[in-house]
Amino acid sequence: MVSTEENERLTRVGPDTPCGALMRRYWHPICAEATLRKNPVQPIKILGEQLVLYRDRGGRLGLLHHRCAHRAMHLMFGVPEEEGLRCCYHGWLYDHAGHILETPLEPVESHIKDHVRLKAYPVQEMGGLIWAYLGPEPVPLLPRWDLYVREGSFRQIVAHRLPCNWLQVMENRGDLAHAIYLHGRLFQYALERQGRLTDDSQARYNATMRQQSDRLQRGVYPQYRPVYNEFGFTKGNRESDQPDDATSWIIGANPVLFPYLLGFGPGSVGIRKSYQLGIPVDDTTTWHLQYFCYTFPEGVEIPEQDGVPYVEVPLTSEQGEYTLDYVLGQDMVAWYGQGEITDRTKEHLGQSDACVVAYRQLLGEQIDIVGAGGEPMNVFRDAAQSDRPELRIPSRTGYEPFGRRGALSAAGFYRANYHRVSEGGWLYIDDDADRYCPDRDLIVELYRKTEELLDKDEAQSSRR
Ligand code: FES
Ligand SMILES: [Fe+2]
Repeated sequence: MVSTEENERLTRVGPDTPCGALMRRYWHPICAEATLRKNPVQPIKILGEQLVLYRDRGGRLGLLHHRCAHRAMHLMFGVPEEEGLRCCYHGWLYDHAGHILETPLEPVESHIKDHVRLKAYPVQEMGGLIWAYLGPEPVPLLPRWDLYVREGSFRQIVAHRLPCNWLQVMENRGDLAHAIYLHGRLFQYALERQGRLTDDSQARYNATMRQQSDRLQRGVYPQYRPVYNEFGFTKGNRESDQPDDATSWIIGANPVLFPYLLGFGPGSVGIRKSYQLGIPVDDTTTWHLQYFCYTFPEGVEIPEQDGVPYVEVPLTSEQGEYTLDYVLGQDMVAWYGQGEITDRTKEHLGQSDACVVAYRQLLGEQIDIVGAGGEPMNVFRDAAQSDRPELRIPSRTGYEPFGRRGALSAAGFYRANYHRVSEGGWLYIDDDADRYCPDRDLIVELYRKTEELLDKDEAQSSRR
């Protein structure tokens, strides 16, 4: 349980808040490059600030305060010029640093432009996303994590806008325990209501619930703990009767990278890797991104991508019903189902919340560091450090080459079998947010080709 004051301190991200000051030490994604390509001027909200992002005709990005300094016209209606953004009302022209280049309806000798300047922030492009830094100078480096810059992989971004505070999303990152009921029992119930629930023993929800009833019968329970590393932590997990040296307890799963990135599969084998990011738009809105990166084995040709495709998916169906028959849909309803900013003074935490508590502690410590004038974790100033080829966290298996069936199936039944139809008659890819990928059908096809290739390899090696 935390006090009301602490709940406020940990959750609010506006300009004059302690957590807002911490968040302003990091680069944040603010817009998909694909969105900006459709319309080069976009209204943006990030950390409670209203801004306008544009790309001028010279290709330069700018991020400005949303209102014109003349008479407060919203700059989302601005016109991108060769250099800068022109307010559509009386034509004042701004450059990327917020300087006024022209006030065309004023006399040439007017000095307005010499002493008025609009607030502006640095922006950069990486991995199909536009990133912004809203904090104090000197501006740190934008860390180039593995999946954003990986070559030869196929990428897709699936996004949602959630009506809740970012910390609820982040706490779920530490909470491995939720998967048992949220992605097991609720999944079964959602399919039951659709008339699609089967006994398919391989299906994630059935396997999960079978495992849980086995635990209950044996009188054991799942245990969790943070396993800290230089960027955050992984989630150590075991069953209560397992030994202290169980690998999953020592190494942990799914790294949490401070402040809000969750990694699935970095440093491991398998086709599909992803990041999930819960970006604080304001105190009660979170922009959630699942950043998918598929790496297929040599011999499976992937088409060249013209940018990273981006899709924003509504939370409910056209009939207004919550979509609960896929994993991320279940996660998201849990996040905003806790309320806009959940009242943590009312909660009753148990042993299964160990990593949730660990994240809150880490957050509190980092807020304190910034409050005391220090530099929080994961702020990079040395190019050799920020330009990492991979998110280097301990992993159970390390990188392994493809070409062996083990490598594919190690990614898990669902992940490895997206191209197959379940007993319920649906493709396994539809069980998670991948179903919304703009190139979903192509991904299914590439999985099928991978399996064909592995079959061929296997047949050849058994002949040898
Ligand atoms: S309000 Fe923008 S130029 Fe007048
Ligand atoms: Fe989940």
